[in-house]
Amino acid sequence: MTQALCPVTSSFYDLSGANTMALASTADMVVKFSDEAQIDTFVTQYSESMPLLVLSGGSNVLLPSVLHATVLLPVMRGIEVIAQTAEYVDIEVMAGENWHDLVVYTVSQGWYGLENLALIPGLTGAAPVQNIGAYGVQLEDCLRYVRAYHLPTKHWQQLSLTECQFGYRDSLFKREPNTWLISRVGFRLHTDPSNVSVDYGDVKNVAQHYAQGQGRTTYAPVDVMQAIIDIRQQKLPDPKQLPNCGSFFQNPIISCEQFASLKETYPHIVGYPMPDSTIKVAAGWLIERAGLKGQGVAPIATHDKQALVLTNHAPYQATQADVAKAQDYIVRRVYAQFGIKLTREPIWVNADGTIGLDEHAV
Ligand code: EPU
Repeated sequence: MTQALCPVTSSFYDLSGANTMALASTADMVVKFSDEAQIDTFVTQYSESMPLLVLSGGSNVLLPSVLHATVLLPVMRGIEVIAQTAEYVDIEVMAGENWHDLVVYTVSQGWYGLENLALIPGLTGAAPVQNIGAYGVQLEDCLRYVRAYHLPTKHWQQLSLTECQFGYRDSLFKREPNTWLISRVGFRLHTDPSNVSVDYGDVKNVAQHYAQGQGRTTYAPVDVMQAIIDIRQQKLPDPKQLPNCGSFFQNPIISCEQFASLKETYPHIVGYPMPDSTIKVAAGWLIERAGLKGQGVAPIATHDKQALVLTNHAPYQATQADVAKAQDYIVRRVYAQFGIKLTREPIWVNADGTIGLDEHAV
């Protein structure tokens, strides 16, 4: 049955608890969609001049103190099996499903592929936006399609993997902000427990440790998932305890010539060769070597166990302006030392709901 559209309206809607960085923020109005029909109803009233912000779990955004826009929150729930064979299962997941709960559920069902993406905060609908990736796996490895409402043309679309235009921490949805309301994500997961990705860092050793603890000789996907949870918990702060929005900077990509020259001065610099012979450098390493681990501009500081993550030590009080100051300081210091300009990863939202491109000057 189609539910009625029930927007939560307020001239002072508090979003401080709706962003994992816990920045103080209020919005003019919020509309929560618990099914797709509500989106159809909403768009009959929507005009293009209406300032909007499409939000999800709030784990990769920096919200302004006062947001003069209507926030659209797709919160629909559900996981459906679309097709199943001996080798794979196709599932369709609604945008409001918690991402980590989905990972745990799929592994418990014997559906594999998402285990390396355990413990990433946020909702499933946001996962394609930045093509979430961790420990050698990116969302695009398992994704088949995204169903989304295209606000400018007022049409539903099903975008294939290619049409999503995924890149490193990038997608069509990220490049066209406030344009797509993602409602469902289709995945193809496999059923072969020996097909696991364990080549990143310590994953193999920790997974083996978990397997042995369970009396198994070799690791299964559940052990890989436990290993990822373990590794993440050791390095990455839990946003509920210490607000953050995950990696604050992208790992910069530089030429192999620049990398070779830096390696002469810094023999331990961490870099990964890319297919086009450029080098992706570990931004966390650069920030740490710039002496900024655990440092920043109060109340925003890099995490003392993973310098790539900025943490908010004044939850619900710190503002976007505080984050900008810390970002500027870190970008300048890293640039001064290495000649590499770091790029912010989370999405910067302007007061009118538009997405800011303000990269502070180096
Ligand atoms: N490193 C340091 N100091 C630090 C942090 C890292 O020297 O403070 C070094 C590490 O020792 C390692 C290298 O940098 O040699 C890479 O570190 P790590 O494995 O922690 O990964 P990352 O490149 O810093 C990326 C993702 C993370 C993801 C991890 C694991 C980006 C921007 N970040 O971080 O994603 O969990 O790999 O795959 O690509 C997120 O997006 O929120 C996130 C946490």
